Amino acid sequence: MPHIAIISSSVRIGRISHRVALYFKNYLADSKLASAELVDLQAYNFPLFEERLRFQASPAPNVLDFASRIKAADGVIIVTPEYNGGYPASLKNVIDLLTDDWSRKPVAISTVSDGNFGGSQVLISLQFSLWKIKAWTVPAMFQVAKAPGTFDEGGVPADKQATDRRASAFIKELLWCIEAKNRMAIE
Ligand SMILES: Cc1cc2nc3c(=O)[nH]c(=O)nc-3n(C[C@H](O)[C@H](O)[C@H](O)COP(=O)(O)O)c2cc1C
Repeated sequence: MPHIAIISSSVRIGRISHRVALYFKNYLADSKLASAELVDLQAYNFPLFEERLRFQASPAPNVLDFASRIKAADGVIIVTPEYNGGYPASLKNVIDLLTDDWSRKPVAISTVSDGNFGGSQVLISLQFSLWKIKAWTVPAMFQVAKAPGTFDEGGVPADKQATDRRASAFIKELLWCIEAKNRMAIE
C-alpha cells in the first residue's frame, strides 16, 4: 500500500487550512487507498531557513525527522493557504531545506482560502517552485474556497458526499503517479 505524507503548511494562529489536512488523513484512513501521516509544520516550529540540509554540519533532530518522513513517503499532499497570492514562508522553508529530496517526488497540491477562488493564485506560484526543484506535481486540483464554512475543526466537511467525490479524483491522480513511478526501472 502506498504511503502518503500530508504536509499541513499553515503555522498561523487560528489556522483553517489545517482542517483540510485533517480531512485528507481521515479520508485516506477510511478509504484504505493508502496509509497516511500528517506532517504538521506548526508542530515542527522550524527556524527561518539558513542552509539546505545536505550542507548542514549538525542538523537539528526535528529537521532530520521531517526529512526522513518526506523521503520515506511514496507521495506527498501539500495543503497550503493562499497568502497575498503566494504560499507561506513556513512552506518555502521546507522546500528549500530539502531541495534534492523533492526530485521526482509525486506531489499533489491542495489550496485553501477564505475567499471565493480557493487559492487559485498560490496553486500557480507553488507549482512553479516545485517544478524548479524537479518535484513531480500531479495534474489535479483540490481547491477549497470559503474554507471556514466548508470544514469544521475536526476536518469534517459540510458536504461530505461532494467533498469525498472530489477527494477521490484528486487522490487517484496522485496514486496513478506513484504507481507510474514505481513501474519505472530507471533512475
Ligand atoms: C497574510 C495573509 C494573506 C492572505 N492573502 C490571501 C489572498 O491573497 N487570497 C485569499 O484568498 N486569501 C488570503 N488570505 C486568507 C486565507 O486564505 C485564510 O487565512 C485561509 O483561512 C487559509 O489560511 P490559514 O490556513 O492560515 O487559515 C490571507 C491571509 C493572511 C493571514
